[in-house]
Amino acid sequence: MRTGGHPKPGRSETPRGHVVVTAGPTREYLDPVRFLSNESSGRMGFAIAAAAREAGYRVTLIAGPVHLETPAGVERIDVVSALEMLEALEGAFEDATALFMAAAVADLRPAQRLAGKWKFKEQGAGEVVLELVTNPDLLATVAEAKGKRRVIAFALETEDGRRRALEKLRRKNADWIVLNDPRALNAERSSVLILGSEGEELRIEDRSKAEIAVSLVALIEEQDG
Ligand code: CTP
Repeated sequence: MRTGGHPKPGRSETPRGHVVVTAGPTREYLDPVRFLSNESSGRMGFAIAAAAREAGYRVTLIAGPVHLETPAGVERIDVVSALEMLEALEGAFEDATALFMAAAVADLRPAQRLAGKWKFKEQGAGEVVLELVTNPDLLATVAEAKGKRRVIAFALETEDGRRRALEKLRRKNADWIVLNDPRALNAERSSVLILGSEGEELRIEDRSKAEIAVSLVALIEEQDG
């Protein structure tokens, strides 16, 4: 879906912009061996990073803990927690031209991280309470003053997806939101509904994540020429 007529720059030429991609889950440790996390595989974000590089962008990929190979020519920053991802994101976003926020950021983290293993059995039988605090919304934090930078959010909803995705698009000041089918988790193929801040709508059915990634990068390429 590349717009025709524009030769893409080779790797030695000036890149057409700086694309930042976040991918994978974050891990929120409560002690040295236990953490809260989620099912994200990171595949969609890695596919977007590869497609953006292929389209001639400089790419920074900020990845949570995943077992995936770094796409050729992509600069990768590995992070573990949401707070670490925020720090890396704030740095990379400064001279970015676009952000694809595909990471599944954990919304909650343990109120404290213990230096040694949590010996809750020694505290007596019965109910065990783990105190949690909320993580910041990374996307909303950086997108608040995004200026000309294009921001693409992702959402996964089990019901009332369209309305909820549109609400997130506005709340997080994104230009586009990609609504994933819940069946996409850990799957090779996926279907997505892409909603734009100006009412645009694009549905992609049953495609590989690599194919979907090319269509997502095309959203910014159309404006970058
Ligand atoms: N996101 C983020 N920081 C968070 C949570 C989410 O930047 N703490 C980003 C995700 O990377 C994604 C988008 O926000 O691009 C939507 O994520 P989602 O988890 O669906 O949004 P929430 O606001 O956490 O909504 P929900 O209440 O449904 O969990």
